[in-house]
Amino acid sequence: MKRYKDIAGDGGSNIVGQVQVQQARLRERLSGVRSIVAIVSGKGGVGKSSLTANLANCFARDGQRVGVLDADLNGPTMAKMLGVRGRTLAMGAAGVTPPESALGVKVMSMDLLLPSDDTPLAWEAPTQDEAHTWRGSMEANALREFLADTAWGVLDLLLLDLPPGTDRLATVTSLVPSLAGTVIVTIPSDVSHLVVRKSITVAAQARAPVLGLVENMAGLFPGPAGADLAREAGIPFLGSVPFDRELALAADRGEAFVTAAPERASARALAQVARAVQESLATTRA
Ligand SMILES: Nc1ncnc2c1ncn2[C@@H]1O[C@H](COP(=O)(O)OP(=O)(O)O)[C@@H](O)[C@H]1O
Ligand SMILES: [Mg+2]
Repeated sequence: MKRYKDIAGDGGSNIVGQVQVQQARLRERLSGVRSIVAIVSGKGGVGKSSLTANLANCFARDGQRVGVLDADLNGPTMAKMLGVRGRTLAMGAAGVTPPESALGVKVMSMDLLLPSDDTPLAWEAPTQDEAHTWRGSMEANALREFLADTAWGVLDLLLLDLPPGTDRLATVTSLVPSLAGTVIVTIPSDVSHLVVRKSITVAAQARAPVLGLVENMAGLFPGPAGADLAREAGIPFLGSVPFDRELALAADRGEAFVTAAPERASARALAQVARAVQESLATTRA
């Protein structure tokens, strides 16, 4: 069997040409999107996805046109958290129409493309050893397709929910024409700060401004303050969201927590973070 390494050039399939066409379509598709913001953390389980969903709902509640791209291809949660899981995608000449949450947030996720059983996303490669090599470029290809084939329409804000690991940020910045900024998430533990400190360094080197740091799950256990980490790193502190089981339960139900329980301390904190993100965006744009 001939393997990709053995092929001189690209075997006549003009991959470079195909990618260029797609990249041009992607730019065209995203031309109606004012700002693209990525939610990142080197650490998993700190609440990147919860924050993405809740921020999207805060912005939508305030009358903004918002989209969310679930860039976590192997652990997609956006469809679930925004209550659109199992919705069928409408394919039209203008591209794939993303389903909308109750508050009108447009959602695109691998979860909407995969069969609804628990089959994980598998990367096809001649051997499992090579699957590893393929994964990175396949991820970039899948994300490029998502961005190029989704009919986002006009959006004030497109939020990208990234998988853990800041290496993924480079993939995203290479794909989108311009990233308005990154929001970094941590929880108040030494372990999380250790990893997130590195994420801040990586994000600071990316071709996008760091909008700031969010502390999530505050009060869950005694730990170092997110505000201190932000100050030491010289980036804005966007706020602290308390640990609140109601927030987790709402996510599991696919409910918009910030409108279902707006009076709760955690919902108010999320609204404050949304305002801080908006202000940081305005500052970096100026
Ligand atoms: N502030 C919070 N209070 C309580 N539970 C939370 C909070 N933030 C996130 N969670 C819960 O923690 C789990 C992990 O969050 P998730 O957003 O999936 O993290 P990540 O995307 O960083 O892996 C989820 O079950 C989520 O509902
Ligand atoms: Mg996640």
